[in-house]
Amino acid sequence: MTRPEPYDVLVIGSGAAGLTAALSLATKLKVLVLAKGKLNSGSTAWAQGGIAAVLDAGDTFEDHIRDTMVAGAGLNDRETVEFVIEGAPAAIDRLVELGVPFNQDSGDLHLTREGGHSHRRIVHVDDATGWAVQAALLKAAEENPNITLLPHQSCIDLITGRHEQKYSGSGRVWGAYALDEETGEVRAHTARATVMAAGGAGRVYQFSTAPRGATGDGIAMAWRAGARVSNMEMMQFHPTCLYNLEVKNFLITEAVRGEGGHLLHPETGHRFMVDYDADRMELAPRDVVARAIDDQIKRFGLDYVHLDISHQRPEFVRTHFPTIYDKLETLGIDMTKEPIPVVPAQHYTCGGVVIGLDARTDLPGLWAAGECTESGLHGANRLASNSLLECFVFGEAAAQDILAHWDSMEAPPSVREWDESRVTDSDEEVVIKQNWTEIRRFMWNYVGIVRTTKRLERAAHRIKLLGDEIEDYYGHFRVTTDLIELRNLHQCAQLIVDSALKRHESRGLHYTLDYPALAKDPADTVLVP
Ligand code: FAD
Ligand code: SIN
Repeated sequence: MTRPEPYDVLVIGSGAAGLTAALSLATKLKVLVLAKGKLNSGSTAWAQGGIAAVLDAGDTFEDHIRDTMVAGAGLNDRETVEFVIEGAPAAIDRLVELGVPFNQDSGDLHLTREGGHSHRRIVHVDDATGWAVQAALLKAAEENPNITLLPHQSCIDLITGRHEQKYSGSGRVWGAYALDEETGEVRAHTARATVMAAGGAGRVYQFSTAPRGATGDGIAMAWRAGARVSNMEMMQFHPTCLYNLEVKNFLITEAVRGEGGHLLHPETGHRFMVDYDADRMELAPRDVVARAIDDQIKRFGLDYVHLDISHQRPEFVRTHFPTIYDKLETLGIDMTKEPIPVVPAQHYTCGGVVIGLDARTDLPGLWAAGECTESGLHGANRLASNSLLECFVFGEAAAQDILAHWDSMEAPPSVREWDESRVTDSDEEVVIKQNWTEIRRFMWNYVGIVRTTKRLERAAHRIKLLGDEIEDYYGHFRVTTDLIELRNLHQCAQLIVDSALKRHESRGLHYTLDYPALAKDPADTVLVP
């Protein structure tokens, strides 16, 4: 029998989306927040550029909406785009109240520029915005008596009707089973409402700017529980990840191009964006710039291209990009004097669990927010700095919807304990490492920036073979975080490839040589479990 839980709501994830929801829920309810690893181990703490918001007198909501929809290549949901963009000023106000020390400019917030934005509209804290935002949210959550933060808990699966002691046939979500990474115990955490905010699936690719834990756990858990997932083929590749043999996933923020950085062929010095998008040059949307770099690298057999901002004043560069300047200095690169070697890398998961404006998923009792979702905001390609914003707006929407319907929500029933009676400790951990590496490598080579049907089919074949092996392993051995992540990476790889095979056109981030043209009518790729 499960112990009665002292919490009303379970939030899975302690990044921007999860903590935004938790802080608003905690005005009335008791909230438990679970995080895999440390509380600041998600992507939020890594965000560099900033948060997009219309704050300048010369800027308008309509311009931000248009820029978002141009980047999204017609696949965005206009109502969602309006909802998020019009919610931005209030979201920034809440962060200011929490003490986020945004850069100032003569008494106003300083706004920087990024690719795809027709105005300066990115509020930021130097080039380490996410670190400051994560710290402020965590401080507020730690000080809130209605919030319990539990790090080092790897959620395995959602608790649904089939886990009830007496199956009621409700199909409702009642919380999640989580592995305590320190004790090895698996506990059922039940709650009336569950908010999934477990971040993206970037680590399904060999090269990614995302942190180690971005293994798509939330998407895979929701899918296994019966929620629809959409647009998983829309994987965003950031054009400028540092190329360095030791430091594998250090981002060079888009704001470097926003503040005048040029992309150059490393041998000839040619500013090659003129050959791909002569109007927007380095500030074209990410898919355009990433494909251009990929083309240069493949066409000229290069390891990397150059990003050069050394024509700006050294003081300007050092004060705008102190984190990047310091990091590069430790690697022997002085960005005020020489170019930075860069390559594209996976950066953001545009697809995910389908949600509405109230952050509800298909499953009663489950809300979702942030990078694990597909809300309709990003469409076929996310506009820079729109994702933290999405976390704040939908984290808040989830909380408001739960609070509004709280009185009619049932208490969770008794649910079954996690059953370990038929598993043993693994004696072959190497299987996990081997499969993890294999998935990430073929996803990079076969399901990357430029795709073909043949490569996608090859990936699908590999995924099927590995699936049998992983499920067999999962059925026989005690769970570990590595095994949980491998199972979820595999699940996400399958969702990405299945979605990519369904899209017979090139739109936004999905570019295939077999269908180079746009289809007449934009349509989401919706997968139903
Ligand atoms: P995350 O912040 O990733 O948090 C996920 C949480 O879920 C973590 O607490 C994690 O521990 C937890 N979790 C995951 N799996 C489990 C599990 N199985 N059990 C329990 N807990 C789990 N966006 C912008 O808008 N502006 C930027 O400037 C920007 N820069 C970026 C720079 C980098 C290098 C990267 C990688 C991303 C950047 N992004 C940026 C994207 C943005 O940071 C993310 O989309 C956003 O932070 C996601 O927030 P989230 O709350 O959805 O998830
Ligand atoms: C960056 O700083 O380039 C990242 C911005 C983003 O991912 O939105």
